[in-house]
Amino acid sequence: MKVPFNRPALAGKELDFIREAVSLGQLAGDGKFTERCQASLAAKIGSEAVLLTHSCTAALEMAAILIDLQHGDEVIMPSYTFVSTANAVVLRGGVPVFVDIRPDTMNIDENLIEAAITSRTKAIFPIHYAGVTAEMDRISEIARRHNLYVVEDAAQALGSTYKGKAAGSFGHLAAFSFHETKNIISGEGGALAINDAALIERAEIIREKGTNRKRFFRGQVDKYTWVDVGSSFLPGELIAAFLYGQLEKLDEIQNDRMTSWSRYHDALEIFHNRGVQRPSIPPKSTHNAHLYHIILPTLELRQALISRLKMDGINAPFHYVPLHSAPAGRQFARTSGELSNTEQLSQRLLRLPLFPQMGAQLDHAIERVTYHLDQLL
Ligand SMILES: Cc1ncc(COP(=O)(O)O)c(C=O)c1O
Repeated sequence: MKVPFNRPALAGKELDFIREAVSLGQLAGDGKFTERCQASLAAKIGSEAVLLTHSCTAALEMAAILIDLQHGDEVIMPSYTFVSTANAVVLRGGVPVFVDIRPDTMNIDENLIEAAITSRTKAIFPIHYAGVTAEMDRISEIARRHNLYVVEDAAQALGSTYKGKAAGSFGHLAAFSFHETKNIISGEGGALAINDAALIERAEIIREKGTNRKRFFRGQVDKYTWVDVGSSFLPGELIAAFLYGQLEKLDEIQNDRMTSWSRYHDALEIFHNRGVQRPSIPPKSTHNAHLYHIILPTLELRQALISRLKMDGINAPFHYVPLHSAPAGRQFARTSGELSNTEQLSQRLLRLPLFPQMGAQLDHAIERVTYHLDQLL
């Protein structure tokens, strides 16, 4: 039996909604399904406004424009993240400043942030790794005291909470992903959640190629024109139609993932005493079962487990190569302090297959992972 790492699946009426979008005669963005998705997401996240984008990458790039990042401005973020968090800053001429992560959640270590602040610091971009939120109380408090923006990279965190509030509701802005590897998907897709009402109108302009097209459609101006920088950050209606089919089934999708996540978590408990670290969920957080990862005692053991699982037809990858050690990271960014947790843990982390309706593939993955761990440790 083959077990892929991910297998995107239909959850409900995605194809019906695509057909409906076609029959409505608007395939460009900002039609009925975009509106529905935005309203649904804003209600779930508790944001002032949500704008669909064609990716989380696009939402992060919009955020960097919205906070007026200037050449040489610094943004504090973990090195243990996806390239888009840093690229959004670099594209504005800014400098990502990497700090280390906490060993329990793999999120930015909030206690290292203040030491990284300089007169050029403009923002903090925390990510919520595996859908477990960073320590947002402390991060928000530091940001307030130093007058910094907070942009949450919530790519993985739709449906997660911290102290009862949704991920994506803490920062001035938050970016979500609906890439096919995420919980709620549209192939490629994303959203920018806006919690600072003062940023909404400019966000609409930036997303529409720097024009005031939205105001024109609302009848607020009699013609639309180029008023600011911008790009084409919005998705077409077919993507939004698919996404709405998924959003309608959010609870079912999350429950299904949580069942698989918990099966891994329970089955792997016995290896705790043998040096295998399972995900750690702080008591004040709830998570969305976005991914299941383990941290092996050594790089060699991780590589051995990957090879053995591969021979069993099971695809278990790892990520991320720390950005500070990547060629572009060395060129465009700087570090603050030692990044030893980032360096060590990234070499030992392994992700296990997790996707909707795993069925017998989950049984097989659990059986083979536990078998090999027992042999290897
Ligand atoms: C933390 C993080 N940020 C940003 C992204 C980029 O998302 P997208 O593929 O929607 O642009 C990802 C994608 O995996 C991610 O994990």
